[in-house]
Amino acid sequence: MRILITGGAGFIGSNFIRYMRSSHPEDQIVNIDALTYAGNLDNLRDVDAKQYAFVKADITNANEIEPLVEQGFDVIVNFAAESHVDRSILDPSAFVRTNVMGTQVLLDAAKKYGVKKFVQVSTDEVYGTLAPDDDAFTETTPIQPNSPYSASKASADLIVRAYHETYGMDVNITRCSNNYGPYQFPEKLIPLMIINALEDKPLPVYGDGQQVRDWLHVWDHCAGIDLVMRQGKGGEVYNIGGNNERTNLDIVRTVLKYLGKPESLIRHIADRPGHDRRYAIDARKIRAELGWKPRYTFESGISETIEWYLNHREWWVAVRDGTYRNYYEKMYGARLGESRF
Ligand code: NAD
Ligand code: TYD
Repeated sequence: MRILITGGAGFIGSNFIRYMRSSHPEDQIVNIDALTYAGNLDNLRDVDAKQYAFVKADITNANEIEPLVEQGFDVIVNFAAESHVDRSILDPSAFVRTNVMGTQVLLDAAKKYGVKKFVQVSTDEVYGTLAPDDDAFTETTPIQPNSPYSASKASADLIVRAYHETYGMDVNITRCSNNYGPYQFPEKLIPLMIINALEDKPLPVYGDGQQVRDWLHVWDHCAGIDLVMRQGKGGEVYNIGGNNERTNLDIVRTVLKYLGKPESLIRHIADRPGHDRRYAIDARKIRAELGWKPRYTFESGISETIEWYLNHREWWVAVRDGTYRNYYEKMYGARLGESRF
């Protein structure tokens, strides 16, 4: 199979490439990424560069995307996005541009050049927020996004759906709960808390810290996307979630306990505007129809993740001080524009 992955230099996309290389080495992979602040080719340093092709391209630019898609692909998996809620509150415009318009550019190219399957990697945040005793989100829960980020992802989902209904394209949408694992950018809760705790810095908890997220290890997310890509029924949405609801304070305390650091590092700070109180995913559909099941418990996944950050200090120091951005120049400077597929 020839697979075009967008956003493969980010957290989940890079893990997906690693997952694919170990589970389906026969597939050909092309990774396109604009290398925004969140794109880091260091995330793929341990993947043999001969095993996939990288092209720096922006999904909002049809002039860059069409000639690539024209090369012929069986599948496009769209990970490329602006992904951080707090950044979307500061400036929604990049979110609308990349998440909505970029998705439409990709869909048009896929339609034009006969890509057989389009998988849109979406989020449970499109469903909005839950009260403590509400049932978990199913695939038929109404879309009610609350942040500019989730609104842009919901909009993209609707465009993807429309290309199925209108043009008969074979599409799937996956909606996943909060991911954690190696190579997550330290603006997100778990890596930020690990790194701050390691350096004895304050751990900023928004509001009362009683917000609930349903945590899934990124490797289990990748396994779910892989199944949907191969066996998903055209036009269907699949929720992916680990059944691991935890309050933010639980997460922070777990990290502190593992690292032997004091709870006095916790600082409650002003809440995020429009902060969703609870997310929870009902993943029975993907379990029943595609046979997906998570390999990690939260306990095994969080220990492994904390150990990863302990053992990869050079990765997060480079991310934090910005030197990871030099890597692309060092690695690709002389070969810019070259592609190997
Ligand atoms: P990330 O921010 O780590 O990575 C995003 C990647 O997309 C980066 O490599 C970035 O350079 C690239 N990108 C951004 N704009 C681009 C553009 N215009 N053209 C090409 N590339 C561009 O995000 P992530 O956490 O890996 O999330 C990947 C996808 O999964 C996103 O679509 C996100 O909405 C979704 N998702 C994430 C989570 C989570 O917990 N992280 C949960 C559910 C769904
Ligand atoms: P985040 O990792 O940004 O994911 P999302 O907002 O997409 O769920 O945040 C997870 C939860 O942690 C969310 O309820 C906000 C909270 N949070 C904090 O309390 N402090 C922080 O510094 C961050 C980054 C998040």
